Amino acid sequence: MKTETPVVKYLADYKAPTHKIETVDLEFHLDDTQTQVFSKMKITPVNGNTLELNGEELKLKSVKVNGEEFSNYKEENEILTLTGLPSEAFTLEIHNEINPKANTALDGLYKSGGMFCSQNEPEGFRRITYFIDRPDNLSVFTTKIIADKKDYPFLLSNGNLIESGDLEDGKHFAVWNDPFAKPAYLYALVAGDLAVIEDTFKTKSGRDVKLQVFVDKGNEEKSHHAMESLKKSMKWDEKRFRLEYDLDIYMIVAVDSFNMGAMENKGLNIFNSAYVLASKETAEDRNFFGIESVVGHEYFHNWTGNRVTCRDWFQLTLKEGLTVFRDQEFSADLNSRSVCRINDVRNLKAAQFPEDAGPQSHPIQPKSYIEMNNFYTMTIYEKGAEVIRMYHTLLGEEGFQRGMDKYFELYDGQAVTTADFTHAMSVANDNYDFSQFRRWYDQAGTPVLDITTKYDEAAKEFTLTVNQSTPATPGQPTKEPFHMPFLLGLLDSAGNDMTLALKNRDDQNDLDRGLLHIKADTETFVFANVNERPVASLNRNFSAPVVLRSDLTDEDFVFLMANDNDDFNRYEAGQALALKNIHAMLKDENHQVDELFIKAWGSILNDNNIDEEFKAVCLSLPSMIDVAATIDIPNYRAIHEAKDKLFKLLANTYKLELASIYNDLSTERPFKVDAKAMGERKLRGFVLACLSTVEEHKELARECFKYATNMTDMMNSLSVMVNENLPGCQESLKEFYDKFKDQTLVMQKWLSVQASSCDDTTFDKVQELMKDEVFDMNVPNLVSALIGSFARNKVQFNHESGRGMKFIAEMIRKVDAINPQSASRLAGAFNDYRKMPADLKEIAKAELTAIVESDKTSKNVYEKLSKTLN
Ligand code: PHE
Ligand code: ZN
Repeated sequence: MKTETPVVKYLADYKAPTHKIETVDLEFHLDDTQTQVFSKMKITPVNGNTLELNGEELKLKSVKVNGEEFSNYKEENEILTLTGLPSEAFTLEIHNEINPKANTALDGLYKSGGMFCSQNEPEGFRRITYFIDRPDNLSVFTTKIIADKKDYPFLLSNGNLIESGDLEDGKHFAVWNDPFAKPAYLYALVAGDLAVIEDTFKTKSGRDVKLQVFVDKGNEEKSHHAMESLKKSMKWDEKRFRLEYDLDIYMIVAVDSFNMGAMENKGLNIFNSAYVLASKETAEDRNFFGIESVVGHEYFHNWTGNRVTCRDWFQLTLKEGLTVFRDQEFSADLNSRSVCRINDVRNLKAAQFPEDAGPQSHPIQPKSYIEMNNFYTMTIYEKGAEVIRMYHTLLGEEGFQRGMDKYFELYDGQAVTTADFTHAMSVANDNYDFSQFRRWYDQAGTPVLDITTKYDEAAKEFTLTVNQSTPATPGQPTKEPFHMPFLLGLLDSAGNDMTLALKNRDDQNDLDRGLLHIKADTETFVFANVNERPVASLNRNFSAPVVLRSDLTDEDFVFLMANDNDDFNRYEAGQALALKNIHAMLKDENHQVDELFIKAWGSILNDNNIDEEFKAVCLSLPSMIDVAATIDIPNYRAIHEAKDKLFKLLANTYKLELASIYNDLSTERPFKVDAKAMGERKLRGFVLACLSTVEEHKELARECFKYATNMTDMMNSLSVMVNENLPGCQESLKEFYDKFKDQTLVMQKWLSVQASSCDDTTFDKVQELMKDEVFDMNVPNLVSALIGSFARNKVQFNHESGRGMKFIAEMIRKVDAINPQSASRLAGAFNDYRKMPADLKEIAKAELTAIVESDKTSKNVYEKLSKTLN
């Protein structure tokens, strides 16, 4: 039984720190199991002479105040409390020991392969040394690293290298100083025997910045795409946001063992190697794209996160929502804007909407948490980015950029709150009233818009009635209405946008942009001079992150698919129609798929005026999660089968056209990583998946695999073979393994594709793969690739025998003992607990209760699963 319930932290309890650590000089004597850490801090008291320092898993060796031995302290509940301290500025020296090798949680200082590296966000620094480990304590850090020279030729930390040299016994040292005061979560240290590629970037004011990407030896050739992405990011931020880099050096280090994607430590980013390494033979296009966007994301944090940081962790979306918005815009400016938007929304709906509809639902600014690491969520990041995008839609690009300038003018060098961001946006825009808009920060749940339309032929009026409601979420039974920007167009029968004129309202000013403001529970908009019945294109570009229900007819959707001037809504109309059909198929096995939809799908397929990637996304069917979203107790196997049936029908109907597109796209062309080439490969992969369901093309995937010259084609064909159990599947898996077994990133794909198959053999397969030498439970990427993929495999996780969820429960326990963050992520598989059929729910309940009540369970897993059971 769990003996004590973990402590809950509340936003409402925020108190300013009692002391400020102005400067800290750190000295590390690196050792696998007994690293010595010497910290010398210059501290200014702000309030009182009792100082509480955070410290976890540390061995305290000595404490000195102003150079004298000090014993007026006690250590309890991971807090070192020092009492009777001077009331003037003083120096505090602490010596402690840590064990990086035992640190399998990968939080603080740890070993990844042969190298030392650190991860301190949000609260890892307290596992390195005693500190005021909170983001509103900003200090200037100087670091001396001492280590064996042969094993650790590179010794890195934040800022500038100010000294280095040899020591006796084969050791050497380096001293780094970061002139920018920063919170401890942005601190980093790396030591290793690495390879490095270098470049320079000339900033807009003419300074040369040295750029370095550090990787394991032998991976140099795979790091150029990351370097190119970095230079593009630096350039883009100067151009679009007027932001210039501020140090003389920017380093990226790739590590194989990392809990997240990457980390924006000042001047020394540490990256999961999955977001650095890429070659055409080993990386898929989505990896190339992901690298560009994550390199951008971390770089953009230098201003939104580092120069202006968060007051406390409840403000996380201040830096994350804003930085995701910035990286989305970066990707959109460099690639196809419409496709980027569609993919971002697809991602939001597939992962954030379910989170917001389930037991972990929280506002983008949460009010409480037990374990902060549980709050690096789709909501804080992706919904947070949608909220920033809404400011952008309300204010327009110019107004938004004025707000950004104001934000840096007011808050550079400070730790601030989301309210401060809103303030900057407001004062830069004639004191724009965001008071109702602020509810987006406080209320959880995805709002629903119910829309009805009416055309009055005689009066030439079109009436739009919008009703908003937000479902109850944990702790928030009722909701106030949101202020949302709602972009719309009214199409005439030729497909042109009509000029908009509102009859009943005086807020006409944004109408030329098609922008309506939705504020009340129910809003009615009457458009005048509407000479024919229009087709309404609603919530264009997904301007408000909501669930939309409208009275548009199937004919309207078909019309929008073909004619809408908003690419997002062309896509969305197709999804809406597909969804309708899948739902009908679920209700009635003999449902005849709508001719209208089949035809419209074919028109997109045969449209030569739309680019390949847009075509591929428009033709894709809604995800299983999209389908399940509106069903109380979804039967995933049935959903899978219905989707499958629809897909096969479409593929068979258009097999000739598909085959001809496939052939056109199969002509030899040079490998490029640009939007056009990636779009072509994406469409080719999609068409291959279609054709592989057609009897006469069952051999195609194996052919494609055999002659593939890049990883995108290889994985596209391999996953089709695995999912459809096609001829050549086993040989292909074997060949793939033999070729890539020494490359862990590629093996992650190999594990994941097998664990994702809906087939009933997958369960045994996964047990077998866990024993393979390429698998390692200590590496989060591998846990996610194999066990995580199985946990996300809705059909197999929800297998009627209960074996899927029992297995994942067991894995949560096992992984939790190694790495609580990794385990907590697996625990997300149970988020649709309340939507499980009774017998499975019974099984899940027993498993989860046992975990929640166990003394061995981490705070991370406890918080997630206790909410799940609630
Ligand atoms: N701050 C990182 C990012 O968004 C994410 C991260 C959080 C990484 C916590 C590690 C630990 O870019
Ligand atoms: Zn981030």
